[in-house]
Amino acid sequence: MKCRKCDRPAVFNMRQHKLALCEIHYPEWFVTQTQRAIQKYHMFSPEDRVLVAVSGGKDSLALWDVLLQLGYRADGLYIDLGIDGGVGYSAASRAKAEQFAAERPDARFTVADLKAEYGETLPEVARRVRRGRSKPCSVCGLIKRHVMNRVTREGGYDVLATGHNLDDEVAALFGNVLHWQTGYIARQAPVLPASHDGLARKVKPFCRIHERETAAYALITGIDYIYDECPYAVGATSLRYKGILNQMEEESPGTKLQFYQGFLRVREEGFFCEQVEDVELHPCSNCGQPTSAPGLCAFCRLWIRTSGAEG
Ligand code: AMP
Ligand code: FES
Ligand code: ZN
Ligand code: ZN
Repeated sequence: MKCRKCDRPAVFNMRQHKLALCEIHYPEWFVTQTQRAIQKYHMFSPEDRVLVAVSGGKDSLALWDVLLQLGYRADGLYIDLGIDGGVGYSAASRAKAEQFAAERPDARFTVADLKAEYGETLPEVARRVRRGRSKPCSVCGLIKRHVMNRVTREGGYDVLATGHNLDDEVAALFGNVLHWQTGYIARQAPVLPASHDGLARKVKPFCRIHERETAAYALITGIDYIYDECPYAVGATSLRYKGILNQMEEESPGTKLQFYQGFLRVREEGFFCEQVEDVELHPCSNCGQPTSAPGLCAFCRLWIRTSGAEG
């Protein structure tokens, strides 16, 4: 198969776009698609300072790479959760992120180390609190959101960018529809605006890009990333949903994008607007970050060791 744009052999075929491209034109196409999403959803402008949350995986490293290529002022943040899982997961993913950053000395790179800053690793917190014993991932999500918001605000960044791709967004949407979590559905978007009470602006520039497209970009451009999934993610419902959606995509290319774009369209038309609750937020009495809970935020409650008050 030949590249659509030149005579070179195609290295990557995208059935959903009816497009096959060579090793030169595929990365070009990928960068253009990302730039289009940034502009279409008014994510940020060249003057803005962007903090990219990098996990050491293909999506977030590809995102950081593309933003730097496009000339954005993008720094990286890695959160070391201290997960071993028999494979040294955090150490290995941190090494990938550090190596990527070392090759791009003009970009700033920060590591937030949970154990060093708060005294415990994610597995240690998860074992200690009731909520974490059954679901370490839910505690992990809470911790990552808190740390990302803190570093974005303390570092004076205008926006936080994550590597969530189309497959992530579609799996989340599918799960929310399956359980009719209308509040979550209403809040799912490529851009979450900053709130006046201290939530940073959040964007997902890869929201229309398939997971296999970011993987192809990383492979073709030589980005070294961690292949392993987090050991706690094994058996996660989101992975099951991704499998089901991929099966549908296989039989009918374009299904995932259609589902997602259709959702954004009806959302834009105001279909879910009544579901958005205006929750009153106030600063946590310990860390100052916005919370709807009275007193301490859910993150600070994780670190209370004696009372067993955390739920
Ligand atoms: P996940 O929740 O693992 O699917 O990751 C979604 C996005 O969150 C990634 O694309 C990254 O942008 C960000 N992320 C995940 N884990 C980390 C981490 N340990 N440090 C910084 N960012 C992360
Ligand atoms: Fe947080 Fe897996 S990355 S539990
Ligand atoms: Zn070509
Ligand atoms: Zn707090």
